[in-house]
Amino acid sequence: MNVLLIGSGGREHALAWAIAASPRLKTLFCAPGNPGIAEVATCINLDVADHAAVVDFCRINGVELVVVGPEIPLVAGLADDLRANGLRCFGPGREAARLEGSKAFTKDLCRDADIPTAASATFYSAGEALVYAADHPLPIVIKADGLAAGKGVAIAETHADAAAFITECFEGKFGRAGAAVVIEEFLRGEEASFFVLCDGKEILPLATAQDHKRVGDGDTGPNTGGMGAYSPAPVMTDALIAQTLATIVKPTIAELARRGTPYQGVLYAGLMISPDGPKLIEYNVRFGDPEAQVLMMRADRAAVLDVLDRAASGTLAGAKLGWSDDVALTVVMAAEGYPGTPVKGTEIKGVDAACQDDNVIVFHAGTSRDAEGRLIAAGGRVLNVTARGANVAEAKARAYAAISRIDWPRGFCRSDIGWRAIAREQAGG
Ligand code: AMP
Ligand code: GLY
Repeated sequence: MNVLLIGSGGREHALAWAIAASPRLKTLFCAPGNPGIAEVATCINLDVADHAAVVDFCRINGVELVVVGPEIPLVAGLADDLRANGLRCFGPGREAARLEGSKAFTKDLCRDADIPTAASATFYSAGEALVYAADHPLPIVIKADGLAAGKGVAIAETHADAAAFITECFEGKFGRAGAAVVIEEFLRGEEASFFVLCDGKEILPLATAQDHKRVGDGDTGPNTGGMGAYSPAPVMTDALIAQTLATIVKPTIAELARRGTPYQGVLYAGLMISPDGPKLIEYNVRFGDPEAQVLMMRADRAAVLDVLDRAASGTLAGAKLGWSDDVALTVVMAAEGYPGTPVKGTEIKGVDAACQDDNVIVFHAGTSRDAEGRLIAAGGRVLNVTARGANVAEAKARAYAAISRIDWPRGFCRSDIGWRAIAREQAGG
């Protein structure tokens, strides 16, 4: 089978690496890809915002399945346009992708399907939002409704900060994403992520993960797209997974099917494990980045393409995907300046040396090659050094040993990825 993968990050490198292991694969194309992906796929230039061009490419190249990595093409309706042209797509259509594209949409759905989540109210003008926030208990969680590249959420510790963020949203700081604002209750507990595949009706639970969103050690400093992750998430016991499926994931899938907008693809549930059980923080309609890297490291890679294809074909019933008992952990190496303005164009050496351990893979995110073929930094998050081990401590030691072989003076990483899970291991459970 010929497959087209869309995206260019570490998530897509991990997906490409898994898809390439399938005995069913003939040719894997990736648009646009990156130098790491180029080792396992044919990278192509294709404007993925031009849906007709994507359809044409698939027809000309005999592509049977399109796997969409990031959310933006899904929210823009690429999956609908592919399906309307008889092509299979892994990823939800425009309406179901609103689970990520609109926080107000998800809150409404939670209300309709009785799904546990933070109590909230949605506002379409600054005036009413400001009045509501003024006597809301602190901290106040305020979210721009639409896609804001992870920047549209504020946890305000004072009413003045809350008012300032609300004003910024309605003054257009996040463009149309801030035309509506959700204000919600602050949830306490430990966060975890849970991933399931869905074919519109049937669900295949995948695995759990936890990430580190803050840029600095000890989970301090500004938020990022994620500085590291590990899988599984020790907090997610089998009982909590069952509870999450029963009270959050299944009612969501059933409600979308009932509305005539079935969900196909991977559903990423961001959870708060609160004292009274799992609550939904947010949905994403794609794999996490860097969570995909640790999931793919643990999955039975040769079977990944098959389950993605079954989700896209509506034949997920009875499907299975094997998982290693190993822990996988990934450390993100970012370019100096990230999450502000990253320094671009600096040379990276030693990636091959870092991969000498069979338990380590370095996935590429924001890399490119210069005219001489040298590997250079071309984005904020640049490399994902991913390792497996019998426990979090061993996976972490292998990842950092690999990082010590990478020669990139203008890059940095956190030194404590997995700290919470390791503390749990040391405490004996
Ligand atoms: P979101 O984009 O909705 O995932 O929010 C980004 C981050 O903000 C989450 O990963 C949480 O760490 C935090 N967050 C969001 N909503 C809440 C909430 N209601 N209570 C506590 N923390 C939250
Ligand atoms: N790592 C968080 C995300 O992919 O949204």
